[in-house]
Amino acid sequence: GAASSSLRHESAHLHVAGDARYVDDVPLPQGAVHVALGLSSRAHARITHMGLDAVRAYPGVVCVLTAQDIPGHNQVSPVGAGDEPLLAEDTVFFCGQPLFAVVAQTRHAARHAAVLAQVEYEDLPAILNIEQARAQGSPLVCRSLEMTRGDAPHALAQAPHRLAGQLAVGGQEHFYLEGQAALAWPGEDGEIRICSSTQHPTETQHMVAHILGRPNNLVTVEVRRMGGGFGGKETQANIAACLAALAAERTGKPAKLRMDRDDDMLVTGKRHDFVIDYDVGFNAQGHVLGVDMQLAARCGWSADLSGPVTDRAMFHADNAYYYPDVRLRSIPLRTNTQSNTAFRGFGGPQGAAAAERIMEEIAFATGLDPLDVRLRNVYGTTDRNVTPYHMTVEDSIAGEIMTQLAADCDYRKRREQIRVFNRTSPHLRRGIALTPVKFGISFTATHFNQAGALVHVYTDGSVQVNHGGTEMGQGLHTKMVQIAMREFGLSKERVRITATTTGKVPNTSATAASSGADLNGMAVLAAVRTIKDRLVAFAADKWHVAPEQIRFTADGVVVGAEVIPFATLVNAAYMARISLSSTGFYKTPKISWDGATGRGRPFYYFAYGAACAEVLVDLLTGENRIERVDILHDAGQSLNPDIDIGQIEGGFVQGAGWLTMEELFWDTAGRLRTHAPSTYKIPACSDRPRIFNVKLLENAPNREETIFRSKAVGEPPFVHGLAVLHAISDALASLNDYRTCPGLNAPATPEQILRVAERLRQQG
Ligand code: MTE
Ligand code: MOS
Repeated sequence: GAASSSLRHESAHLHVAGDARYVDDVPLPQGAVHVALGLSSRAHARITHMGLDAVRAYPGVVCVLTAQDIPGHNQVSPVGAGDEPLLAEDTVFFCGQPLFAVVAQTRHAARHAAVLAQVEYEDLPAILNIEQARAQGSPLVCRSLEMTRGDAPHALAQAPHRLAGQLAVGGQEHFYLEGQAALAWPGEDGEIRICSSTQHPTETQHMVAHILGRPNNLVTVEVRRMGGGFGGKETQANIAACLAALAAERTGKPAKLRMDRDDDMLVTGKRHDFVIDYDVGFNAQGHVLGVDMQLAARCGWSADLSGPVTDRAMFHADNAYYYPDVRLRSIPLRTNTQSNTAFRGFGGPQGAAAAERIMEEIAFATGLDPLDVRLRNVYGTTDRNVTPYHMTVEDSIAGEIMTQLAADCDYRKRREQIRVFNRTSPHLRRGIALTPVKFGISFTATHFNQAGALVHVYTDGSVQVNHGGTEMGQGLHTKMVQIAMREFGLSKERVRITATTTGKVPNTSATAASSGADLNGMAVLAAVRTIKDRLVAFAADKWHVAPEQIRFTADGVVVGAEVIPFATLVNAAYMARISLSSTGFYKTPKISWDGATGRGRPFYYFAYGAACAEVLVDLLTGENRIERVDILHDAGQSLNPDIDIGQIEGGFVQGAGWLTMEELFWDTAGRLRTHAPSTYKIPACSDRPRIFNVKLLENAPNREETIFRSKAVGEPPFVHGLAVLHAISDALASLNDYRTCPGLNAPATPEQILRVAERLRQQG
């Protein structure tokens, strides 16, 4: 049926023709004004003087807004931490923090005026990175979480083998194609409408209301689509929306803020970089006996989502492996840098990186193939199946997937061939690695696991679908259209999805945690079924047939022996005064989580997969190339196989970019020097694997009752990038005949690769 077929993305024809409208494409009403930001040039300082005369005097400037101009509360912390003023007050906490907003008749004037400010500072000591934060005892941005099961110190002391080490994994800029943008229209009587590139329209609505000091019912936020979000528009979109709204409120005119790429990178938070200290006990067969880990993260100047992000790093510090005795602790460090935030995987990939380093360490210590160490430690199905947070893994299939993938891509034979090749190749070395993923699906904050929808059937038989999720390129809207098509038996031309708006579906959760289709899909289904039930009752009565004899098919509605066109039935129902519109609501069952005890079932289910990567490393330059990647991924009974494969390909490439080439660099004054595509490199088309085979796991319906037994697919494939890091590590290990674990940190840039190569040669 339509729900499991690969319907083309609902906006594909608009994307390729350049006709898809983003915030910046919305035609501006007459008299609209433009907003640009004035940013702090210091990492931590008291503002002693804010000289804005030259800014105000610049031709075309309408006004300059500072913290004093905010009528409501100057506070946008998404978790109520109270540590995130929208505009700086008397102190700045990072270099790039918004100080003021210039409102001008043109975008050009606003941007030119913004740099004319004369700001005087009195510098304060700044803490910039994890090392400094730990050395100086920097405070945490939120509570540290601890997860324990069994007695890790005892297990470590008793283990026949034990080793300790440290892994550093870098941060990542989201680099959505469309930068942060918002357009605000003031309405009558305090109403305001905002078009925003946000993953979380409801939170944007609340933040704007809070900033303006108005009730939520005066603020409407609308999102047709984003040009990518990747987590970077879950909370960070509020900055642009609030400032556009403030400018609209102060001037009485429509106001737009579209951040320049450099400003976007300087102002908004990124993926958290982590330093993870691990201590692991194991036996000669490679079985983990005990694990003790501390996960320190650079959170930046405010809490933002660092609590749940560092929590999720811990939830995935086991990746797919059973740790018999375990103790994990997060250290969310406050630093004078951008406030790090959600980014595809939400801390999970950083935690999984630590698990894979542990597997690699054990492989080198025991002389086993890393794949065998991984297979020996993977979660069991009947025993060895309890996570560090005391949730039982009921359907561990990571081992089967790894075994199947290894056979399909000839891992063992290729590994031998690579070793032979490396013996006679002085400068070019090959490496291969196969890593799994097990990713928990649900928001760990239980109350976010709810969704709403609103479906209208019009009297011509056409249907409009609305739901609380947002479209950022991932194909969520396409999947929602498919659900309505399948249930009503309609073609795609008859089902229209409209912009997400807080005016149609209120109190929504962010489209995040990969749960967009799971949550909103069930809400859409509920709304559609309510309308169908009314139509069935009506038809059964009118045509005197049993309700069981009524079916919605592609040929029309089968009512006993007759086939009635959908539009005819709908119109008849309207004449009989039957409501043709319904809301739908869904909440995820079975889940619970108590952060205080570190116990519960935070996830409804897990999504699984495995990736095998082969790389070629040039030891003279440190450059590397991904020669081949094979991925086998579990999307349950996929809602749309083509879209899901696209998510897997994109997630993998983004994950590989994070681990190999994307590097954020702050100078000693705390200035981010990588704030444009000239200095910050994301993967290009030419960086994709030379051979790239992606397959969905077949005949694998979700054992939980998700929407048509599918599984979430947005974030889990990001973790597949780890196979590339480990393949590079495998290539480097050839330098000392595979005797020691290379201890390769991420990103494995050419410099990093050359440094590790040098160290290994010396150990050789
Ligand atoms: N795919 C595209 N094309 N663009 C995006 O911004 N975001 C990712 C993922 N895939 C993203 C994407 C992230 S971080 C998440 S959480 C999910 O999509 C969100 O959408 P879903 O819940 O509908 O999968
Ligand atoms: Mo995705 S990081 O949960 O927006």
